Amino acid sequence: MNQANKNKKMSYYKIQNLEQYFKHYNKSIREPRKFWGKIAEENFVWYQTWDKVVDFNMAEAEVKWFTEAKVNIVKNCIDRHLARRGNKTAIIFEPNNINEEAQHITYNDLHQRVCKMANVLREQGISKGDRVCIYLPMIPELAVSVLACARIGAIHSVVFAGFSATAVSSRINDSECKMVVTSDGGFRGEKTIDLKGIIDEALINCPSVKNVLVVKRTNQSIFMETGRDQWLQPLLDNASDNNVAEIMDAEDPLFILYTSGSTGKPKGMVHTTAGYMVYTAYTFKNVFQHEENDIFWCTADIGWITGHSYILYGPLLNGATTVMFEGIPSYPDFSRFWEVIEKHKITQFYTAPTAIRSLAKESIDFVQKYPLKSLKVIGTVGEPINEEAWHWYNNHVGGKRCPVVDTWWQTETGGIMISPIAFVTPTKPTYATLPLPGIQPVLMDEKRNEIEGNQKEGSLCIKFPWPAMARTIWGNHQRFKDTYFSTFPGKYFTGDGALRDEVGYYRITGRVDDVIIVSGHNLGTAPIEDAINEHPAVSESAIVGFPHDIKGNALYGFVILKDTGETRHREHLKKEINQHISDHIGPIAKLDKIQFVTGLPKTRSGKIMRRILRKIAEGDLSNFGDITTLLNPEIVEEIVEGKL
Ligand code: WT7
Repeated sequence: MNQANKNKKMSYYKIQNLEQYFKHYNKSIREPRKFWGKIAEENFVWYQTWDKVVDFNMAEAEVKWFTEAKVNIVKNCIDRHLARRGNKTAIIFEPNNINEEAQHITYNDLHQRVCKMANVLREQGISKGDRVCIYLPMIPELAVSVLACARIGAIHSVVFAGFSATAVSSRINDSECKMVVTSDGGFRGEKTIDLKGIIDEALINCPSVKNVLVVKRTNQSIFMETGRDQWLQPLLDNASDNNVAEIMDAEDPLFILYTSGSTGKPKGMVHTTAGYMVYTAYTFKNVFQHEENDIFWCTADIGWITGHSYILYGPLLNGATTVMFEGIPSYPDFSRFWEVIEKHKITQFYTAPTAIRSLAKESIDFVQKYPLKSLKVIGTVGEPINEEAWHWYNNHVGGKRCPVVDTWWQTETGGIMISPIAFVTPTKPTYATLPLPGIQPVLMDEKRNEIEGNQKEGSLCIKFPWPAMARTIWGNHQRFKDTYFSTFPGKYFTGDGALRDEVGYYRITGRVDDVIIVSGHNLGTAPIEDAINEHPAVSESAIVGFPHDIKGNALYGFVILKDTGETRHREHLKKEINQHISDHIGPIAKLDKIQFVTGLPKTRSGKIMRRILRKIAEGDLSNFGDITTLLNPEIVEEIVEGKL
């Protein structure tokens, strides 16, 4: 065997069949350093390689990958492809409005645009380590801004453009962003969203922000504050397209992305450079079995981790063509997704169960009009997919030919953790199936012991570090340690429950903490309760989730009113409470049901017994188990009666 062939055979970058999956998996567990070291060495460009592949102390939540290595992720996403793929489309932009033409941005174009933007950022005083908040709709400037930050080593903090002014300002303040990149407005279905107005309101309380760069998208008239706000386009027009990328340390922060927790304010998850790069590239390549001429479409927003890892970084690192869709699945009608798949000849389609369920309830004609023959792989992410939705997706979108990859992961994990590998892992409806190489899941029982064997259920933990794991919570390492590494000392606790079947396949059963996944969005109960409690008529509240046909879960609020002689009609109050939530967090956190109660079931230590409220919200009004430990057992009956 000649050297070239031997090297090819040795490569771990792409898994081709099930036997190889097991081989690579075993290698990744027995010799993680060799496994990841080889992948890192063969598939990326480095200014300097590492000293150690991994260095960690899980009990202290200290993890480092590729120590001492020097790299720039954008060089890997763009520059190194230019020789071979300069004229290949990097990003297809599909606008909200069907009358607006799609844009095909080549790797050359993207390089030029990112370099210009990087120069603008530097001219505006941004340098390595500074935080930049990006609050933009799904337009090319969003991708360009993210990549420009990464190119110059600024830490991007993308805030989903559906969050309210209060939510944006708390995120800006938490990481003390120096700059905000936003747009005049955003198109979303028939609506136009006043993004600049939201930023103006948010910035009333954000002393760290010195500059706001504004992209013109909707052409609506907006307020521009002299000395602070500037239109972006003229700055870009004057900028050079020559830009020297910053040399980054492997462990320099790449971005912060906020996710809600069960308590307290949102957590600014910090992802670093090299490990995130290696892992998102590797998982993208394998899970979706990406090939050179594929057209990949992930329907998420870049404001979520799914968009960071699988619209931008994972695909671009592989020199892929990735789609950015500005619109929504229901506009101009429910065939939009299928029309876009047909139009751009999408080969891999990646969406959320909630979107599938909402489209499955509409007429089948919307999807059957389109042959969808270009599709090879279809994926889901964000929440458990129920059996019915899985089959609908498999039958009507995948035509029973396309493997359904049910990918389980989290903002904190950076990349896909448990998932079928398309064409390699036999799928099973509702199962995320097997861990990817490098991932060591374990199930834990209540006594904090590892559960051995199959056909078992427990709390899902990961017992060995992987390259893309979040390294800390911005400004609060103790909270990072407490939240993820203390429940089961030395292990990363996911917050999810899981079941392991007879062959070792995993099925995620849902959150075991007070996080509720609504339409694939991770919502902590505490911030919503805080928002409700700020309403002058409210004294206390508790939120639980209940099953919902489309959203997976919806929110049910139990609200205690103050004894203020409140005379307004209760329906009116309900509306106000939801408006309050909308203003404080965003419309995604609105409650589907509100029940006014006079008390909440509490333990003697004052903790709300959510288990009982959950049963009531679900409509299961009997058999509450042992409620004698409650401080106020009589309240349970009262709440049940109030519901009837
Ligand atoms: C939580 C993480 C990771 C991208 C989007 C969500 C749930 C995610 C699945 C899946 C069952 C899933 C979990 C997880 N989840 N994917 N395939 N099957 N549940 O990121 O907002 O950080 O939420 O989403 O509960 O813990 P996130």
